[in-house]
Amino acid sequence: MILVTGGAGFIGANFVLDWLGNSDEPVLNLDKLTYAGNLHNLQSLQGDARHHFVQGDIGDRALLDKLLAEHQPRAIVNFAAESHVDRSIHGPEDFIQTNVVGTFRLLEAARHYWSALPAIEKQAFRFLHVSTDEVYGTLSPSDPAFTEDNKIEPNSPYSASKAASDHLVRAWHHTYGLPVLTTNCSNNYGPLHFPEKLIPLVIVNALAGKPLPIYGDGMQVRDWLYVRDHCSAIRRVLDAGRLGETYNVGGWNEMPNIEIVKLVCALLDELRPRGDGQPYAAQITYVTDRPGHDRRYAIDARKLERELAWRPAETFATGIRKTVQWYLDHPEWVATVQSGAYREWVAKHYAG
Ligand code: NAD
Ligand code: TYD
Repeated sequence: MILVTGGAGFIGANFVLDWLGNSDEPVLNLDKLTYAGNLHNLQSLQGDARHHFVQGDIGDRALLDKLLAEHQPRAIVNFAAESHVDRSIHGPEDFIQTNVVGTFRLLEAARHYWSALPAIEKQAFRFLHVSTDEVYGTLSPSDPAFTEDNKIEPNSPYSASKAASDHLVRAWHHTYGLPVLTTNCSNNYGPLHFPEKLIPLVIVNALAGKPLPIYGDGMQVRDWLYVRDHCSAIRRVLDAGRLGETYNVGGWNEMPNIEIVKLVCALLDELRPRGDGQPYAAQITYVTDRPGHDRRYAIDARKLERELAWRPAETFATGIRKTVQWYLDHPEWVATVQSGAYREWVAKHYAG
């Protein structure tokens, strides 16, 4: 079996569903169930003996030791993290605890477990750390896209904590020989995306008749990847990645935020037109920019293509249509995740 951490969050849950859709190898899913973790994401696995869920913290060393001894996973895939840049600006402490200290504890537990494995299992064991392109910092419009050799220059508390965790993973390989792999991926979108992030926030607010908040001039550029393509890349790296290497994962789809929002609005106009006949784009509202807002991210994913023959299956046009349709088809999921804590966040962050 494999141990997945953070498997009740957006990408982790998609990964667990994708994994069990592609193989019968069981998954032990360890998730703290913070505001971002939601067992509704895994509802279709109820009663499926291949999925074993444990609520717990990657920083809890005693729990990690117990789970590793009991379940003897052949790999660990680490998604667990605090993941929202805006929250990291309001309160960085949780980011340091989970992303830095938590990853450290998980690495230590993995190292002790791995060191004691018999030779064949020891050789086959993998620790895959899921990270972000944000560790590379920001690009100007004419800069080439990030490669794996880029300097690490994180600018937000979130990206700094992820960069710190990437460094720990690297060091545990170089110092202790732990068989690690790291993936640095661009912005994901797709089903089960928590509506604090741009694309689901825009869909949910549009349908609720609320403003669609665009930070600053809306010309910040991100590369967007459909979440199931990220999952297939992780599976590929886990299968065949070279130990100690990092692999950039991207969608070859750089777009300014305002274009993304206009595209989502146009899809909603087509699939669920507003009752008053007005376009959803009329709800676009420019708001104060995020402090330290990175201007542009772009991913050069050619290493993954060259070494492991991976390319995304979706284009942005196909992926965003599926995504918007998924949100239209799942109003009960949206209602469930918009808990009191979610409403408090929106009220605090978008006040004024
Ligand atoms: P998410 O916030 O939706 O989910 C994170 C999950 O981790 C939640 O289920 C949460 O309950 C769990 N968690 C948090 N702290 C924990 C802890 N201490 N112990 C155990 N579980 C804990 O995040 P996501 O968007 O699914 O991102 C998953 C990973 O992928 C993160 O490491 C993130 O940095 C990385 N990543 C995300 C993106 C993106 O666009 N969302 C892009 C590249 C990389
Ligand atoms: P986000 O989804 O938070 O991802 P990240 O900051 O990790 O890239 O934001 C994506 C982009 O959208 C980012 O440039 C910030 C911008 N944004 C807005 O303009 N308005 C919003 O309300 C949010 C949440 C994000």
